[in-house]
Amino acid sequence: MVEKLTEKISDEEKKISRRGLLVGAGKVAAGAAIVTAGMGLVSTAEASKAKFPWPYKKLDIDKVAKIAYENWFKNFCCYAVTSSILIPLREKVGEPYTSFPLMSTKWGHGGAVGWGTLCGSLTGAGIVTGLCAGHDGENILNEVIYWYADTALPMYKPANPKARIKSVNKSDSPLCHISVGKWMKKEGVKFFSPQRKDRCARLSADVAVQTVKFLNAWADGKFKPTHKFPLFGYGITAQENCTECHGSDVPQPLR
Ligand code: HEC
Repeated sequence: MVEKLTEKISDEEKKISRRGLLVGAGKVAAGAAIVTAGMGLVSTAEASKAKFPWPYKKLDIDKVAKIAYENWFKNFCCYAVTSSILIPLREKVGEPYTSFPLMSTKWGHGGAVGWGTLCGSLTGAGIVTGLCAGHDGENILNEVIYWYADTALPMYKPANPKARIKSVNKSDSPLCHISVGKWMKKEGVKFFSPQRKDRCARLSADVAVQTVKFLNAWADGKFKPTHKFPLFGYGITAQENCTECHGSDVPQPLR
């Protein structure tokens, strides 16, 4: 089932790039664009009329985890998390999810094209919570980030792991560089090792599952945020591991 879904998505991506070629060759008249996306013919105008946020339906976490793990190996963390939630929503809801170009999220890998900033799995969570929960999505993402920084990861155990790994680690940070760096040191492996790749694929599954748990609770009217946004607590945009960067002399922002 999951294989089928992941295949379907790469077919879609092929169609999109074919369309890109056509547009490039000037064969599609402006204003008459019709895209073929997965389930059939859909006009872009119709998709863009969708009410925001897009409708969410509760999802099965095991299915989401499997897609995230498998899809990491196609286009990495941000794509893995986004696609693991939006592909099942394409099945349950259809449009506008069907028209969402999943490849547009690939850039989040490596903390934004390798800059080591926000872990791409969290960027993916943010894209999804923004689409499905709008303003409430910010509270959901805040909880996902607190959970991420505070949990020994990865937890997900794939049925057919692509590599064996020993370590789990609590990052104390949402930054890709810090999170993956601490884990690599503990495991004793290089960035371009099969173990590091498997760790990030499993972690993507964990983040996707946690995001869906919160979204499912939200859909039932049972989601209650338990943390403030850091900005309001500290008076400056920040991560909470202040002393890791500043040492014992953490500056206080002007208030
Ligand atoms: C990932 C590393 C990192 C983390 C985590 C971090 N900071 Fe910073 N912070 C910096 C860097 C680098 C600067 C740039 C200025 C500098 O060199 O001091 C900075 C600047 C600041 C400034 C403005 C400059 C000043 O001296 O007034 C304040 C205030 C500050 N940080 C407070 C905090 C607080 C409070 C936390 C925890 C809630 C925190 N920081 C977490 C790295 C970090």
